[in-house]
Amino acid sequence: MEAGLARGLKDVVLDTTQSSFIDGEAGILLYRGYSIHDLAQHSTFEEVCYLLLHGALPKEPELQAFHERLTGNRELPPQVIDVIRLVKDAHPMDVLRTAASALSAFDPDVEDHSREANIRKSERLTAQLPTIVAAHHRIRQGHDPVKPRAELSHAANFLYMLEAKEPSPEAVEAMDLDFLLHAEHGANASAFAARVTASTLSDLHSSIVTAIGTLKGPLHGGAAEAVQKMTEEIGDPSRADDYITRKLANHERIMGFGHRVYRAEDPRARHMREKSRVLGEKLGHKEWYQILTQVEKDMAPYQSRGIFVNVDFYAGSVYALLGLPEDLFVPIFAIGRIPGWCTEILEQYENNMLIRPLLKYVGPMNLPFVPIDQR
Ligand SMILES: CC(C)(COP(=O)(O)OP(=O)(O)OC[C@H]1O[C@@H](n2cnc3c(N)ncnc32)[C@H](O)[C@@H]1OP(=O)(O)O)[C@@H](O)C(=O)NCCC(=O)NCCS
Repeated sequence: MEAGLARGLKDVVLDTTQSSFIDGEAGILLYRGYSIHDLAQHSTFEEVCYLLLHGALPKEPELQAFHERLTGNRELPPQVIDVIRLVKDAHPMDVLRTAASALSAFDPDVEDHSREANIRKSERLTAQLPTIVAAHHRIRQGHDPVKPRAELSHAANFLYMLEAKEPSPEAVEAMDLDFLLHAEHGANASAFAARVTASTLSDLHSSIVTAIGTLKGPLHGGAAEAVQKMTEEIGDPSRADDYITRKLANHERIMGFGHRVYRAEDPRARHMREKSRVLGEKLGHKEWYQILTQVEKDMAPYQSRGIFVNVDFYAGSVYALLGLPEDLFVPIFAIGRIPGWCTEILEQYENNMLIRPLLKYVGPMNLPFVPIDQR
């Protein structure tokens, strides 16, 4: 690489944070000091949202009040449902981006940029994003959106609004775990993009719209969908070896492997691996887990180069086992990541400095200007 360049901002430390700690060499992830493994085993997505947005794990009454605020904010303004109807044939990520943007026009705090108002907007968006995704899915299938139910958890409500039927406890548990594991991850591309927007002192909704657009790309949010396509293409564990050998010989990347930060196994992956195994056995698609574990074995030689499975590798099979369509995989990532985006934006506002790097110009210099009729 040319001297003085930090292409892709690889290894550049942008700022300080108290939101999450990642040790990529050791494969460690903490949310506000708590191990992702403890949170995955003992906590819930709602608790983690509260932890990220408010800085500490909630006491019982605080969690109850937070649940009630999410419940009170889940329904969308009818005008936003109209917007979703207008763009219903677009990709769900484009619909999510458009509807999240439209929400700002109806947010009671839109002109208030105080910390308190930004926390209210963060909680509101956390509550509203699943409703957008579910309402759009219903509308594109020719049905009316389903109203949320106050007594259901965040994950249960999402599945209920999506499918118009009470989800199974296993489905709710898997969805909740998936949201929790995706909730925050440092200066990943979408959170960084959100920080760039916030650093101009633009508003919280604009920063979130930036993040949604950035998450959409296959190198960031789209890997789970690509992995599931690969799993179905392989079809049988006995065909995995050939498939991977052919892909690597063609210098193609294997989706769900590698990470900009981790040079060890992504600590979130083990929880999705276990969910994929358990759900596969219960719901009668054991072959997906078998294919994935075979691919993991085939990729073992790459571990010496720091390439291990990432969180998305087993996530796609979990979504597919829950019967979720592939084009909802990235929007589901966004629903999980919204508290992390908001937390990063709040941190940016609190200690703001305009993010504005430089580019090294490598084009021609001092060209003579030629009038248009002489070119
Ligand atoms: C995530 C990702 C973009 C990180 O990329 P990065 O930090 O910029 O690393 P690079 O793209 O520079 O890759 C470094 C080397 O590892 C190889 N590599 C990285 N990921 C690979 C993969 N999934 N399969 C095969 N080889 C891979 C690259 O080919 C490169 O090899 P080279 O040095 O011989 O050219 C990359 O690993 C990737 O494309 N993974 C697949 C997509 C994915 O799963 N994304 C979800 C991330 S959570």
